[in-house]
Amino acid sequence: MKLEDIMSQVAKSKKVVGGIKHIIAVSEYFFWPNVTPFQDVIEGPGSSARAVEILKINNCKKALIVTDKVLVSLGVLKTMTDAMDAAGFPYAIFDGVEPNPTIENIDAAYALYKSEGCDCGVAVGGGSSIDCAKVALCNAARPNLTAEKLGRAMGYFPVTFAGKQKKVPFLMAIPTTAGTGSESTVAAVMSNVRTDQKITVSDTAMRPKAVILDAALAAGLPPKATAETALDAFCHCLEGYINRSHNPRADEYAIRGMRLVKENIDRAYNNGKDLEARQALCQAAYFGGQTLNFEFTGYVHPFCHKLGAKYHLVHGRAIGSVLPIILEEYGDLTKSRLARAGVLVGISDPKANEDDQAKQIIEWIRNYCRTYGIPEFIPEIKDEHLDEIADSIMLEMIIYPTYAVYDRQEIFAILRKIRGDK
Ligand SMILES: [Fe+2]
Repeated sequence: MKLEDIMSQVAKSKKVVGGIKHIIAVSEYFFWPNVTPFQDVIEGPGSSARAVEILKINNCKKALIVTDKVLVSLGVLKTMTDAMDAAGFPYAIFDGVEPNPTIENIDAAYALYKSEGCDCGVAVGGGSSIDCAKVALCNAARPNLTAEKLGRAMGYFPVTFAGKQKKVPFLMAIPTTAGTGSESTVAAVMSNVRTDQKITVSDTAMRPKAVILDAALAAGLPPKATAETALDAFCHCLEGYINRSHNPRADEYAIRGMRLVKENIDRAYNNGKDLEARQALCQAAYFGGQTLNFEFTGYVHPFCHKLGAKYHLVHGRAIGSVLPIILEEYGDLTKSRLARAGVLVGISDPKANEDDQAKQIIEWIRNYCRTYGIPEFIPEIKDEHLDEIADSIMLEMIIYPTYAVYDRQEIFAILRKIRGDK
């Protein structure tokens, strides 16, 4: 029996899954904050010029820049590479990252890293480039494992548990969108195009050692993509905040991240060159990533991962359709945390009762989607795909510490709501 089959069987048992999640939630609280490696963070418009300084003080000799062709053609790397050229710091560029990086992208990046004799990586781009670089550099510590093998093993702790974390090369992440928060997380998502599957790979050693949050790099992001990525950041904060694994530090990140989205999205959407608002969204995405490190996602992301891979949907667009429906499904299980988040972020009325406060934050998300053109439903979902989608969700959900545990039929019902069935 394949690992996926075994885990799918386990996922069918609510009792077992609930127990696993409780153990994870407790262990997260005590354990995770102490083992997540620290990273250096530099912020401010134009700060990508300082990448070379960071590489030098970390004794790096040659960098593999991992990015995509669009960013290269738009000149987004220029500030950074000009500074590297001026300092005589050598680098090679891998610009073959596709959206939702494939296993083949990762293998190609790692091959170039080796053939060019690099000793560090700089990921420049959205979550796809950063995730691609994370897994490629982990491969350097486990050269006997391909990206596909990492994925087949569900990828949990493939480096640290093998005692190879010190062999993971130095990685710096420079996000150009403010959404995934991948620059601060210990996880990466890659795609298997043969199975329409997104695979999460997770290891504390995967966390970039340095981050540059440079709002100037996001100035050209179109309004719609700005709204989609910011909603993703908001969702990371909220999903973590209402999970079982409450953690005081992560709760702080979550509330700050959501507040930054709420207070800055309108400015960034209407004027992409508003670097103050852009910088705030960069911070929000970073806080979202920090929240995920400690508190994980809930059901929203497994739904969006599979629906995004199956129907080729932009992640933030899928989030917009799935998030409010999942929050309503949770109902009383997360009501008080949801209400609390709504009040602290300044969305919900502090004088209202808890029911209304929880409803107000859900309505705020729906209004966000209407305002910024994110569709309410995903009509592409087909009946004949329901089983396959549910398998993927149950498999991914095993480790996420949610209060709710849904079986196959309940997931089908949620999928029909996401499709917009009356
Ligand atoms: Fe996300």
